[in-house]
Amino acid sequence: MLHQRLRLCRVTRESSSGLEEYAREFADAGDSAFVLTGGDAEAFFARVEMFEAGEDLPENRVRMTWFWLLQGDRILASSRLRHQLIPVLLLDGGNIGYEVRPSERRRGVGRELLRLTLDEARRIGLRRVLLTAETTNRGSIGVILANGGVFEDTSVSPNTGRTLNRYWITL
Ligand SMILES: CC(C)(COP(=O)(O)OP(=O)(O)OC[C@H]1O[C@@H](n2cnc3c(N)ncnc32)[C@H](O)[C@@H]1OP(=O)(O)O)[C@@H](O)C(=O)NCCC(=O)NCCS
Repeated sequence: MLHQRLRLCRVTRESSSGLEEYAREFADAGDSAFVLTGGDAEAFFARVEMFEAGEDLPENRVRMTWFWLLQGDRILASSRLRHQLIPVLLLDGGNIGYEVRPSERRRGVGRELLRLTLDEARRIGLRRVLLTAETTNRGSIGVILANGGVFEDTSVSPNTGRTLNRYWITL
């Protein structure tokens, strides 16, 4: 079984040996769901550490923990857990963001990734989490519904102007 070999792991230098290859797969596929912010691994880790510390963050950002979903040492996917909701996140972003590497989609990886990230949300004391997905993003909506998401309403993203579905998951 695929899932028995998957584990969620905090993003650290030690857990990120495949980072550059992971980012390259998205770039080669013309997919912007994961971009190596700043262009290199060091800039990426600095950003991860800044968000995890939750101090001196840019406006409208909150403390956030980054995870890899690993199969052995190979990164299959990543998720980001935002520790609190602020008005802009209520409209777009919610508590959790995620992406699966293009070559691993449609195999249940996204569903397992969110399931394990919900365990982490529970661990930091959240009682329910908000998930948002563009109304056209069938994959993300599938992942959310498979994890017990309850449709709340639609909103318009203040970031992109696109229409989003909002879902709550009770933990
Ligand atoms: C969205 C995403 C994470 C889905 O990951 P995945 O590993 O392909 O999802 P799964 O295989 O676990 O699929 C979960 C469900 O969604 C359905 N699904 C997945 N991709 C789909 C697609 N492109 N179209 C229709 N349904 C889809 C699956 O059939 C499955 O439904 P089921 O539980 O009824 O079988 C992945 O497509 C991705 O990384 N997209 C780019 C980033 C992104 O959109 N992130 C979310 C932002 S809100």
